[in-house]
Amino acid sequence: MEKDKLIQLFNKMTLKEKVGQLVQVSPHFLEDSANDYLTGPLQHVTLSEGNRYTIGSAINTQTKAQAYEIQTRHLEKSRLKIPLLLMADVIHGYRTIFPIPLAIGASWDLEAAREIADLSALEASNEGIHVTFSPMVDLVRDPRWGRVLESTGEDPYLNSLFAAAFVKGYQGTDGLAADTGKLAACVKHFVGYGWSEAGRDYNRVDMSELELHQNHLPAYRAALDAGAKLVMTSFNVFNGIPATGNKTLLQEVLKKKLHFDGVIISDWDSVGELIPNGLAEDHKQAAELALQAGVDIDMMSFSYHHALEELAGENPDLSEKIDQAVWRVLTLKNELGLFENPYRGLSESQAVDTSKIRARARSLAGKTLVLLENNGRTLPLQQDAKIGLIGPFTNSHDVLGSWSLMGDKEASVTMMEGMKAYTQELQVAPTEKVDGITAAEWQTIHEVFATSEVLVLALGEKSRESGEGASKTAISLHPIQIQLLKEAKETGKKVVTVLFNGRPLDLREVQAYSDAVLEAWYPGTESGHAVADVLFGAVNPSGKLSMSFPYSTGQIPVYYNHIRTGRPLTEQTKGHQYVSHYLDAPNQPLYPFGYGKSYATFKMGEIKQHQNELAPESEIVFSGTLENSSAFDGQETIQLYIHDQVAEVARPVKELKAFTKVFVAAHSTERFTFKLTAADLSYIHADLSDWSDAGLFDVFIGTDSNAEKIGTFKLMD
Ligand code: NOJ
Repeated sequence: MEKDKLIQLFNKMTLKEKVGQLVQVSPHFLEDSANDYLTGPLQHVTLSEGNRYTIGSAINTQTKAQAYEIQTRHLEKSRLKIPLLLMADVIHGYRTIFPIPLAIGASWDLEAAREIADLSALEASNEGIHVTFSPMVDLVRDPRWGRVLESTGEDPYLNSLFAAAFVKGYQGTDGLAADTGKLAACVKHFVGYGWSEAGRDYNRVDMSELELHQNHLPAYRAALDAGAKLVMTSFNVFNGIPATGNKTLLQEVLKKKLHFDGVIISDWDSVGELIPNGLAEDHKQAAELALQAGVDIDMMSFSYHHALEELAGENPDLSEKIDQAVWRVLTLKNELGLFENPYRGLSESQAVDTSKIRARARSLAGKTLVLLENNGRTLPLQQDAKIGLIGPFTNSHDVLGSWSLMGDKEASVTMMEGMKAYTQELQVAPTEKVDGITAAEWQTIHEVFATSEVLVLALGEKSRESGEGASKTAISLHPIQIQLLKEAKETGKKVVTVLFNGRPLDLREVQAYSDAVLEAWYPGTESGHAVADVLFGAVNPSGKLSMSFPYSTGQIPVYYNHIRTGRPLTEQTKGHQYVSHYLDAPNQPLYPFGYGKSYATFKMGEIKQHQNELAPESEIVFSGTLENSSAFDGQETIQLYIHDQVAEVARPVKELKAFTKVFVAAHSTERFTFKLTAADLSYIHADLSDWSDAGLFDVFIGTDSNAEKIGTFKLMD
């Protein structure tokens, strides 16, 4: 619609109609049976006929028919025929489920992330969805927090690249109105949600401005630079004020610093939660605070619905704010082409080819698996070996992971199904539960132990053990699974452990009792195929952790890019009391950021630093070779880290600045090159300005964050 026409439409709107545009409800409120449906805390909420058809958006429609029905009724019954905006949690797939975002992070493959977002958008838009509440770009360092699975990890640089890749995949490049197979992206949760104190969900967040600007904002900036249309506020209290009512965060940081002028939406009921947060007495005050802070759409708290009309009457400033918020919502609807095509996606004649998408899901999932151990080349498995498959994930469909609302669990491929495609020699001993084994199950397990040559244990956490509201204080496998593993090891046979989980776990015992460990995460619909492809060597694993796996829970948060201390633990200070260390555990995680093995044997050749100085407008080059001396083709992720020797504020011991994925065929060698510019070396100074200052930088190049130092260069004035 031309801007003039949109203005004309806007000018026709009553205050009630304007407020409606700022209210988001679940679709049941818009159905005929709406008021029969409501239970629990929302029972008191009813939408009169007069209000119902002023509503601007709905969250999580479940079927094409439902989307079609509520849109049709809305267009029929609303006075101005403003189409509904349909938003949904399309997090790692819609009907076809791809690996969880933490697994996608472990691919270090930006094109894979873009493609996953692209295919998810295709399926979801085909069912009438216009906006996805994704990507979640929160930086995470505490695996007790169940929502780490929705993040791509602990590094601001890697998170930023992924954030941009997801947005490009969802939104495409041709414009949302032109390309109806796309979704508008809503980046979330602004901000600091990944920092929940003690890893307990919805808990408060307190962080310095330096921490916010250096580590948390970059991924938001990247998502917004890539064009993300919406931002969702987070549940948490941020430095004393809930993000949803936090004017400094939304006005000063998001709008002014990050130049965002799109739609800001609250999280589910987070406007209403300003009341239990103790910032507001009632819905009216909550609505006022959120609107003043900058929240345009109230998701499911009904505070705006209850109070904005009254507030607008009392305060012309709020009336003005309502107008601005409504304008942003109408602009988004217009950008999606909804005024011309309210059945966007729904009316397209071409059906989505799910089989093609599933085939891609298999190969994309293959990129996300991380080989943590492979002693004595236990993997890949020989197809003619007698293999025993044992444990709770043997034939489990609980492999989609959290936030796979529309995924069909039963349609997912189990490990047993996936492995059977490779071998006739599979004996299985599934257990029903992750936290218990019956006597009959033990008996079968022991039989399979006795008759197999190699034991594959399919272990992990139920998918409900990670995700929203799923924080834990103990992040090891359940003791019964450890006992199973121990008994397997005692048979003297080779033990391969495959893990299904949504967070880094404490894997000390798993490491001790396994010959090989494959981190599978929740691989999604094609789970069993993707895992079997790797177990049998059809796919050579190439995943690299994007979040450290702690040695023990007591170390948390443990992450590679920590700030220096005045009393570091080094070879020289080892054994001293007054250094920064633990008496009962190492400082290092069990598996560091960037770590992951391959079936190939890679050896780094000599690495050359081509210059010793870097002039401001120039670049510095590093090059080297990587040899693959094995019979497997393989892909390695070579990582470049820097260390700023002296700076205005304390800088991390290491920071990822570049990486490259190098494919090296069996028995051959490939070259790689890195280039850095002065801009790559910038950091947030004490006054929050972002620039690079002259000085010495150490460089580390390797295949994980323990990379060796290869040289030092000077950034010139
Ligand atoms: C709550 C979650 O925090 C958020 O990530 C999600 O998008 C909304 N609910 C909507 O389901």
